[in-house]
Amino acid sequence: MRTLAQVSDLHFGAEDPLVAKALLADLKSLAPDLLVVCGDLTQRARTREFVAAAKYLAEAPSPQIVVPGNHDIPLYNLYRRFRKPLRKFSRAFPDARTEYVDDEIAVVGLNTARSLTIKGGRISVRQIFALRKKFEEFPDDLTYVLAVHHNILPHPRARGGGKLGRAERLLKAFAGKRLDLALAGHLHRSAGEALARVVPEPANTVFGLSGVSISDRTRREGNSYNLVRVERGEIEIERRVYRASRFIRAESRRFTNQAGRWRLLRE
Ligand SMILES: [Fe+2]
Ligand SMILES: [Fe+2]
Repeated sequence: MRTLAQVSDLHFGAEDPLVAKALLADLKSLAPDLLVVCGDLTQRARTREFVAAAKYLAEAPSPQIVVPGNHDIPLYNLYRRFRKPLRKFSRAFPDARTEYVDDEIAVVGLNTARSLTIKGGRISVRQIFALRKKFEEFPDDLTYVLAVHHNILPHPRARGGGKLGRAERLLKAFAGKRLDLALAGHLHRSAGEALARVVPEPANTVFGLSGVSISDRTRREGNSYNLVRVERGEIEIERRVYRASRFIRAESRRFTNQAGRWRLLRE
């Protein structure tokens, strides 16, 4: 069994120090096998925000996969935005992995933040096919996990429902192939149905969405992150919420794989 802590939307620069401290304590006590940070580490991609985020993650459990979000690309400095969009990010997290593989899971993190769009994000055709090739090369008995910032599915109840650009293309490319679990953030809403779902086709994948971890940009939901347990043929996604100075278990969804197909287990 492997446990992954899925944390996103830290938004340093708009972080709540008490929540940040509580999250660190929770992560340390749960000691996940892998910390997956699904983007938006900063509020405005300012150097001091990256420095604070880097200092924070240096104290958190590792190994870590860290992918950037739309907020991690400089917004106002157009030279930086278009010519060196990820320079500050890469400098802040030189040791962050984009890939983690052991004898149970293979996790790949991809950048979906783009200079041309302020909020939205996109996966490139090249990224899609490189990911597919990578997963084909890993041993068959691993659980294959993708980590990105932008939500691959729209929120089940939100109107409009923006999502990752070329999400359909990604899912189509995995028709008949394996993409067991895809983790994302960005929506700042992960309660209820949004937390985890399976869309059976074209790819048969469990989608896990994390909320705002430590920032005060929480909309209505409060702060949360996910603890993901992966065991061969089973995935559980637990939403942990901040209540009275600590993170506690709020809700969870379990999925099972039968005959190669993921489905939600009714409690
Ligand atoms: Fe965000
Ligand atoms: Fe975002």
